[in-house]
Amino acid sequence: MNRPLAESTKVSDEELTLLAKEDRFCSHGDTVHYAEKPKLFERCEGSYLYDLYGRQYLDLQMWYSAVNLGYANAAVSRATREQMEKLPQLACQYLHREKIELAELICESIERAFGMKGRVQFNVGGSQAIEDALKLVRKVTGRQRMLAFQGGYHGRTLGASAITSSYRYRRRYGHFSERAHFVPFPYCFRCPYGKGTKCARSEKCP
Ligand SMILES: Cc1ncc(COP(=O)(O)O)c(C=O)c1O
Repeated sequence: MNRPLAESTKVSDEELTLLAKEDRFCSHGDTVHYAEKPKLFERCEGSYLYDLYGRQYLDLQMWYSAVNLGYANAAVSRATREQMEKLPQLACQYLHREKIELAELICESIERAFGMKGRVQFNVGGSQAIEDALKLVRKVTGRQRMLAFQGGYHGRTLGASAITSSYRYRRRYGHFSERAHFVPFPYCFRCPYGKGTKCARSEKCP
């Protein structure tokens, strides 16, 4: 027997049109296609997302910067807008004030927290940062092999995929010649060796 769709699962013509266009024009290599009918969102605020119908969702994932800054953080929006109008991009052989001042703030914060001096390499995302880290390790140590934790995800560029644990991120792309050696993540709460709180490490855990 056909039952009326619950209010929360109703789909408008606008949503159906957008989903059809997405299916036709957007790459299917994205995780959005893990869901049979991907969810469309319109806007955000604080810890909430809003769909096309204005329904509010508490986002318990809060991916990327949302977890630290909150959605639609007014200070970030203002600074982004001002920078877009002042100097939206610059060839990387030149400098601008904000890059230097932000690097200074990050370095000072890390030194306060960890007592370590350093410099900042700005990048555009997680996978890119992993690629840089892999290259840095090779350059500094001269070594090629990597260790990675079982269950770890590091992104979907080629180098990041090579040290990512899940097979599904690699299975269609052939042989990764320099895969990492994978080791269990040290997690005393659910010890991979079944040692519970009896292992030497857990005694040192806070
Ligand atoms: C731990 C970790 N590393 C790397 C990445 C890849 O980041 P990006 O999607 O920005 O390339 C992610 C993304 O979720 C991540 O969670």
